[in-house]
Amino acid sequence: MAPRPLIIAPSILAADFANLDREVRRAVDSGADWLHLDIMDGHFVPNISFGADLVRTLRRIAPEATLDVHLMIEQPDRYARSFIDSGADVLTVHLEAHHNVHKTLELIRDMGCRAGLAINPLTMVENALPLLPQIDLLLCMTVNPGFGGQAFMVEVLEKVRAARRYIREHALNVDLEVDGGLNNDTAGLAVTAGANVIVAGTFLFKQKNMREAVANLRSKATEITAAG
Ligand code: DX5
Ligand code: ZN
Repeated sequence: MAPRPLIIAPSILAADFANLDREVRRAVDSGADWLHLDIMDGHFVPNISFGADLVRTLRRIAPEATLDVHLMIEQPDRYARSFIDSGADVLTVHLEAHHNVHKTLELIRDMGCRAGLAINPLTMVENALPLLPQIDLLLCMTVNPGFGGQAFMVEVLEKVRAARRYIREHALNVDLEVDGGLNNDTAGLAVTAGANVIVAGTFLFKQKNMREAVANLRSKATEITAAG
């Protein structure tokens, strides 16, 4: 199976919310591929971000964007529908949340949305592998979820390698995403391990020229792999 294209997904969590309209346009016009939206409920993670109404607003601001919605919430089965109705293109739920994960993934796909499954740094990847045929994306968290601006956990790369191996061996059509602490130094490590979707919040939004930063990140992410 041909290698999957590299996808760069700026995380809106790190945007300046006082200028959300401008920030979203800046990210979409930067040459990035997806927009990553972090939904936090104050239960599953110790932080609260925003909800489906804001997703709907972002969909209106950027109708052409692929909205990659990451639900860090305790009961994803209760809210999946409303996030899809609000415009999610990819909806990712956590394996560790309180739900019947098979049913939630099925519900997401039945609604015509791409289904993602996320695992925290301490969760064994072996628990997620049997679900791979049921999903479109596996997200290996490279920080403990809840906050932007944390340091990349290099030990997660072992899980990324195992997931990529499984995906290859079973010829599955699954994107492999990493989220947390990604920058010009860490993206290459993640891509070499087998990731093809790079979420970056703090690193991209702090840049004056996001277009240049996305192009740089893209070449840094692939240079080690390209060199063999
Ligand atoms: C963490 C979120 C991430 C976060 C990434 O809970 O899921 O998407 O915004 O932020 P940075 O890139 O700042 O580590
Ligand atoms: Zn995220």
